[in-house]
Amino acid sequence: MIKISPSILAADFSNLQRDISKVKNATMLHIDVMDGHFVPNISVGVPVVKSIRNFTDMFLDVHLMITNPLDYIEAFCNAGADSVCFHLEAESDVTKTIEKIKSFNKRAALAIKPDTPAEAVFPFVKNLDMVLVMTVEPGFGGQSFMEKTLPKITAVREYANKVNPALDIQVDGGINFDTAKKVISAGSNVLVAGSFVFKSENPSETVDKLLKL
Ligand code: DX5
Ligand code: ZN
Repeated sequence: MIKISPSILAADFSNLQRDISKVKNATMLHIDVMDGHFVPNISVGVPVVKSIRNFTDMFLDVHLMITNPLDYIEAFCNAGADSVCFHLEAESDVTKTIEKIKSFNKRAALAIKPDTPAEAVFPFVKNLDMVLVMTVEPGFGGQSFMEKTLPKITAVREYANKVNPALDIQVDGGINFDTAKKVISAGSNVLVAGSFVFKSENPSETVDKLLKL
C-alpha cells in the first residue's frame, strides 16, 4: 500500500483551506517548515500548523528543515503535528530528538539530504517510524528528481527489513508518475508530492492515481 502526502508548499497560501480540502483523499498532508538557515528559504511555522489542525482531521506530516530541531519539537507537537521529521544534517542530538518526539506520542522521522549516505541513518532505524530520503536538495518545490538517490532508498529498505520491517520510507522532491514508479520499485512506500498534485488540474484525481500505483 502506497501512502501519499501532498506538500502544501505548492498550494495557494491564501486559500489553504480550499486547497487542502481538494486532497482529503490523501493518506496524510505534508507541511514543509523552513527557517532560512538550514535551507536558503523560509516557509511556514508553528501558527500555520496550528491553524491547519483546527480545520482538518488529516494526519499532519511535518517536515522540519530547521537548525536546532530539538528546541522546537514540543511546539510542533502541541500545534497538532502527527509525525515530526527532522534532518540528520541539522546536527541536533538525534537520539534525544527522537525520544522527545515520541514523548508526545507522535511518529518520529529522520531525513537525509541527497549527498548524505544511507548508512548515516542505520544506527537510528530501530527507533524510528520513518526515514525520509530526500530526492532533491531541500529548500524549494518544483525541482527535478535526482536519480542518484534511488540506491539509497534500497539500502535503507534492506537494512530496515532486518531490524525494523515496519519502517516507512518516504521520498520528497520531484515526484510525478514516472519518478513515483522508480522510487516504489526502489523500496519507498510514502511519497510526498507538491507541484505534481497542487499544480494539476484535478489534485484529488492525481492523488487517487498516485495511491493506485
Ligand atoms: C522541498 C520540500 C518538498 C517540496 C516538494 O524542500 O521538502 O516537500 O514541497 O516539492 P515538489 O513535489 O514540487 O518537488
Ligand atoms: Zn518536504
